[in-house]
Amino acid sequence: MRFTGRVALVTGGGGGLGLAIAEALGREGASVWLVDASEQALTSGLQHLQAAGIPARGAVVDVRDPDAVRESVDAAAAQLGGLNVLVAAAGGSLGTPRDLEDISPADLDLVIDVNIKGTYHCAVASVPHMRAAGGGSIVTFSSIGGRSTSPVTGIPYAAAKAGILGLTRRLAREVGPDGIRVNAIAPGLFLTGRLQGMFDAMSEHDRDEVLDSIPLRRMPAISECVDPVLFLASDQSSYITGAVLDVNGGRFMAG
Ligand SMILES: NC(=O)c1ccc[n+]([C@@H]2O[C@H](COP(=O)([O-])OP(=O)(O)OC[C@H]3O[C@@H](n4cnc5c(N)ncnc54)[C@H](O)[C@@H]3O)[C@@H](O)[C@H]2O)c1
Repeated sequence: MRFTGRVALVTGGGGGLGLAIAEALGREGASVWLVDASEQALTSGLQHLQAAGIPARGAVVDVRDPDAVRESVDAAAAQLGGLNVLVAAAGGSLGTPRDLEDISPADLDLVIDVNIKGTYHCAVASVPHMRAAGGGSIVTFSSIGGRSTSPVTGIPYAAAKAGILGLTRRLAREVGPDGIRVNAIAPGLFLTGRLQGMFDAMSEHDRDEVLDSIPLRRMPAISECVDPVLFLASDQSSYITGAVLDVNGGRFMAG
């Protein structure tokens, strides 16, 4: 129960990793606020949490909209009693093409805007509440695609997820004196609902190729991403800030 009495806001919380993280935070005592751009995802995410006995609230917000983000973060703090944890999971390659010749300027804008600017807006709106609480923890979402060259995502995603690391370090330096820690998680491939279908549709040969590139030789459980995020969000990582945690079965190893 590492989060008893704490308030956690999870962006992209309506589905995928964000929802799994929100559920785990709630099971450990946090009051949870979900932010998601999809009304359908938000509604089903809140229903899922409520069915698990977790009293969660949330709002439909596109993290690209700084005013809407601030309004929602302020509402979360007002209704739940402050803000201690931000997990900025909203992002992804968002259906944009992988190959250079197929990528349009609009694709680049979308991926940079949601991943980098969205993370920035959410962090900036959260910092005053964390200062008021005497500290807090922000977990940003990079990716193995921002740490190395991914075979499945393109330049916009690589640039955005690498950019989030710069944002994370610079913000960590700026808000460290306020007791606010900022760290990034960089997951490898986790088969959330969206990606499981893609993986299942691959040939056995292609699936074996993916597994061969992973020293641990298996796909991870979703909990194997959730647990490291909760570690970074909790006091267990109280002297860690500005760090990136690679969670990829050894597929990419930092030098
Ligand atoms: N799943 C993986 O294998 C993997 C690997 C590396 C990094 N990541 C990162 O983890 C994060 C979560 O990934 P996922 O696989 O759970 O994604 P997902 O697509 O399953 O869920 C993302 C959620 O974010 C929401 N969202 C999308 N755009 C948004 C916006 N502009 N504003 C607010 N909400 C928005 C979606 O509606 C969705 O509910 C992303 O940042 C992704 O890049 C995932």
